[in-house]
Amino acid sequence: MKPTEALRHEHQAILRMIRILDKMADGLEAGANVAPGDLEDAVEFIRVFADTCHHAKEEGHLFPEMERVGVPRDRGPIGVMLSEHEEGRKHVAEMARAIPGIRKKNKRAAGAFASAARGYGALLSQHIFKEDKILYPMADARLSPDQQTSLSECFDEVEKNIVGEGKHEEFHRLLERLEKAYPA
Ligand SMILES: [Fe+2]
Ligand SMILES: [Fe+2]
Repeated sequence: MKPTEALRHEHQAILRMIRILDKMADGLEAGANVAPGDLEDAVEFIRVFADTCHHAKEEGHLFPEMERVGVPRDRGPIGVMLSEHEEGRKHVAEMARAIPGIRKKNKRAAGAFASAARGYGALLSQHIFKEDKILYPMADARLSPDQQTSLSECFDEVEKNIVGEGKHEEFHRLLERLEKAYPA
């Protein structure tokens, strides 16, 4: 499997969680009871799966390899992707901050979570679209077979050392559980 193919698969999982967050936001805005534990699980998924795992592979490995073959970082597509990752982290921090208030049935906290979740979803959906359609095809075309092989090895290391074995299966079970609880 090409390294970008692995990343594309991860995008699909992130988009599934974005759809769940959107349903959670609908519930929070309608004043419905959304289990704070589910909100915590969703935030944990985004932090570990999207940010620590997926963005670590891009920031620590894919983007530097692309720079090596002449794709510019500053004022180029990589710079834009990096600043969008940063912006995404701010939305996630806002979601996490709102959860204690939601536990106390605070309406303003519910609204804050919902708007941060929608902001995150809008940002990441277009970010993923740009990576799938522009950045990854650029990587496929420019990176040498050796670079691609070593990237795949680096990705395996991230899985083992940063995310931890078994965590991916756990996250897939979480997606399935939350999709049932918050159907489209
Ligand atoms: Fe990205
Ligand atoms: Fe990505």
